[in-house]
Amino acid sequence: MTPTGNSPKILVTGGAGFIGSHTVVSLVEAGFEPVIVDNFSNSERSALDGLRVILGRDVTCYAANCNDETAMENIFRKEAFSGVIHFAAYKAVGESVQKPLMYYRNNLDSLMLLLELMPKYKVPSLVFSSSCTVYGQPEQLPVTEETPRLPAQSPYGNTKAISEDIIRDTVLSKSPIRALALRYFNPIGAHPSAEIGELPLGVPANLVPFITQTAAGIRHSLTVYGNDYNTPDGTCVRDYIHVMDLAEAHVQALRKLGENPADSFYDVINIGTGRGETVLNIIKTFEQETGVKLNYQIGARRPGDVEQVYADVTKANHVLDWTTRRTLGESLRDAWRWQQKLGSAV
Ligand code: WQD
Repeated sequence: MTPTGNSPKILVTGGAGFIGSHTVVSLVEAGFEPVIVDNFSNSERSALDGLRVILGRDVTCYAANCNDETAMENIFRKEAFSGVIHFAAYKAVGESVQKPLMYYRNNLDSLMLLLELMPKYKVPSLVFSSSCTVYGQPEQLPVTEETPRLPAQSPYGNTKAISEDIIRDTVLSKSPIRALALRYFNPIGAHPSAEIGELPLGVPANLVPFITQTAAGIRHSLTVYGNDYNTPDGTCVRDYIHVMDLAEAHVQALRKLGENPADSFYDVINIGTGRGETVLNIIKTFEQETGVKLNYQIGARRPGDVEQVYADVTKANHVLDWTTRRTLGESLRDAWRWQQKLGSAV
């Protein structure tokens, strides 16, 4: 379906970013009209070109900072939104340790501004980008939403936990907002067209972009951060989800929130595959799927890494009527196709 003149308009903050841009595709395909606000501090305008190729049309985009009260008020006044998906946030775990105030200021102020503007402009629905990082190292696996959050391992992770509490308390104060916080696990891959994908700034911190840059010869080799964990092959376990599956979960979340617009509502939902994969199995699967031999070596553990975390997705299946549709192999093939499109650009 493509949007018509009366398609519900959805504000997508950070919509030029990795997860945001893929969610814009799913929104249009589901008949919504996304409106992007992005300050391009951690994204490229080229994402808009990729979206134009995939969608065959331009997507409205405001180059603005989500903390800019005047700019955001003007956008809310001009666009009659039906909902908001809030991706815009600083998200580098390591950087957040060095610059905590920058993270608290940026990530929390932008959310609070949205929560003030939404009731003022009668925008009922909010889907918030949260993270499995709020669980720390769960005692039981797979991790369910009832698992208590642990003290955050980083200021970045703490902004996600605090943001969830801010949204919950705002909804409990009878603000007419209906909200879902989606706790992402590890998003990987790219749109199968290779027109949009992950654009890490500088040296990738995350595993899969480092793998694809190593395969492309941009990085000399990959270091596996530790193989002495209590896991099947000694390397850490994570739940790697195709970014398009994650994008589609956002559409389902919006639909869920649109069901009973009169009632205030807040909940948290895990968005993952429900399967844990070790680092070495990611490497092996990448090599099998692409035919590219990876140069890697085992190194020391990375401080702050949890040993194992993967999702129980029962709630997402039932509440959102959603399940993953892509395999790990597809995710890694799509990531590689995107890297080949990028070439040696970093
Ligand atoms: C995955 C595994 C590493 C790089 C982070 C954030 C989380 C979310 C996703 C934002 C770990 C290992 C990695 C490398 C390696 N981001 N690894 N060599 O740390 O699970 O999650 O990104 O929401 O909040 O914390 O993802 O991809 O960095 O690491 O061995 O060069 O790969 O040790 O076990 P992580 P990751």
